[in-house]
Amino acid sequence: MPLIQFAGETISCDRADNLRAALMRHTPSMKGDLYNGAAALTHCRGLGTCGTCAVEVHGDLSPMTRVEKWRLGFPPHQADAGLRLACQASVLGDLIVKKHSGMWGHRVDEEVG
Ligand code: FES
Repeated sequence: MPLIQFAGETISCDRADNLRAALMRHTPSMKGDLYNGAAALTHCRGLGTCGTCAVEVHGDLSPMTRVEKWRLGFPPHQADAGLRLACQASVLGDLIVKKHSGMWGHRVDEEVG
C-alpha cells in the first residue's frame, strides 16, 4: 500500500486510489487540508474545473489528464509551476504532497501543508 506524507502526517491508501479521495478520507483528523480557505466550500468536488486542489507532489502519480492540463494551464495557475490536481491523479507509489498558499494553492513560493 502506498504511503502519502502530507502536512506532517503519513497515511496509506490503495494503489491507483484517487489522490484527492485518499487525502479527503483523512482530512477530519489531519492537521493540514487539501483546500485553502473558502475553497473548502466552493471547490468543484473533483471535476477538475476549479483548480483549487492543486498540490506539489513528489513520487509516482498517474500521467496528467487532459482536464488537468487544461485547468493548470490558465491563471492563477501557471503550466510550468509543477503542480498537480489531486482530483485528477491516481496514486501509483509513495508520495510526498505539499500544499501551497493561495485559494488555488498556486503560490508555489509559500507552503502551508
Ligand atoms: S477539486 Fe476542483 S479541480 Fe480538483
